[in-house]
Amino acid sequence: MREVGIGLAGFGTVGAGVYLNLEKNRELLRERIGCDLVLRKIAERDTLRPRPVPLPLDRVVPDWRDLLDDPSLDVVIELMGGIEQPRQMILEAIQRGKMVVTANKALLAEHGAEIFGLAVEKRVPVFYEAAVAGGIPIIKSVREAFVGNHFLRVRGIVNGTSNYILTRMAESGMDFASALREAQEAGYAEANPALDVNGWDAGHKAIILASLAYGFWVPSQDVLVEGIEKVTPADSRFAAQLGYTIKLLACIDACADGSVEVSVQPSFVPNGNILASVNGVFNAIAVRGDVVGDTLFYGRGAGQDPTASSVIGDLADAANALLSPRSFYGFVPHGLYGKLRPASEMVSPFYLRLGVEDRPGVLARIAGVLGEEGIGNSSVIQPESQEGEEASLNLMVHDATRGQMLSALEKIRSLDCVRGEPAFYRVEASA
Ligand code: HSE
Repeated sequence: MREVGIGLAGFGTVGAGVYLNLEKNRELLRERIGCDLVLRKIAERDTLRPRPVPLPLDRVVPDWRDLLDDPSLDVVIELMGGIEQPRQMILEAIQRGKMVVTANKALLAEHGAEIFGLAVEKRVPVFYEAAVAGGIPIIKSVREAFVGNHFLRVRGIVNGTSNYILTRMAESGMDFASALREAQEAGYAEANPALDVNGWDAGHKAIILASLAYGFWVPSQDVLVEGIEKVTPADSRFAAQLGYTIKLLACIDACADGSVEVSVQPSFVPNGNILASVNGVFNAIAVRGDVVGDTLFYGRGAGQDPTASSVIGDLADAANALLSPRSFYGFVPHGLYGKLRPASEMVSPFYLRLGVEDRPGVLARIAGVLGEEGIGNSSVIQPESQEGEEASLNLMVHDATRGQMLSALEKIRSLDCVRGEPAFYRVEASA
């Protein structure tokens, strides 16, 4: 039976999962693919550190360059993390005709155009299912199963760590730091969890999905990305009181003028929207195509085995590409879209929470400022407080642009009756 030689760079949580599951399901893979996926070499510098899964030392080489120098390897898997070393490794692998599998969303979001440009030029496929939403096969679905669709809208909960934290905060009132620690202990968080909580892990995934869906590399510097660091227990409570759950949502929309909106923002999701019930480390992605209609993908977006499942799926695709070569390199640019709409023009309803002095006329002044900006209130909650004390004013407003909201907030901040920093969140549609 034909053997497909595989080299793995990086033996962290996901790398170890690939190693274990390739061994575990070797027979099944052999039957299904018709060839043997053989993990021949693992590039890992640190051989002394104790690990939950011991390194198979007989296969270890110290440097990823050793993988590229080995003619018995057909595919290299990049799971090192970081940007510059993986970028060099992938570009060099393509130059040398070795197929690539990677889970590196930050790298693809920043350097996708360069990597796939070279992949097409050299006719070497690059696979990246594990880069977005762990075990959910969203890349393959968008790229292949939905090839006959214009994508009207994509909504995704694509960061397991922040969904875990928001769920724990909403359900048990746990504080942010303890919930993050739990997520790290479970192996969900990135080595640097800042990217999970500041929204950029989800941002990279949104950029990859949007780029794939619309055929151009979305410029990361122009994408609105906000994290969950500022979400407070009070926000969670008021959301629940109003019939919403706070979720970190990746929002991708095709606009009528042919431009595309891409953002990641903590959002008030109505409890009737199925995404509001996606809890813990689970991810979900709702894709609306003009032909297929509404679809929903749900599964584990992080962790050893789910992510390894996607890497192994990519290895099977690489093996198929080796057995029967085709013109497919992982990303197909086209010119039907191509423009990103500025975040200031994005339209949605909003929730606004203000600390205000509890005295007559305050609500009217706030409503007045919103009115000047053309923003209409749809509801107000003000929990009871003592006159003269600080009160919490919670408003839902009708559709407005983010630009309108920001300019209203600037005026509201300067009112002498307002205390502290106002919080505001976009509000998602009910379906
Ligand atoms: N740290 C990521 C998450 C998993 O929590 O979803 C890998 O992208």
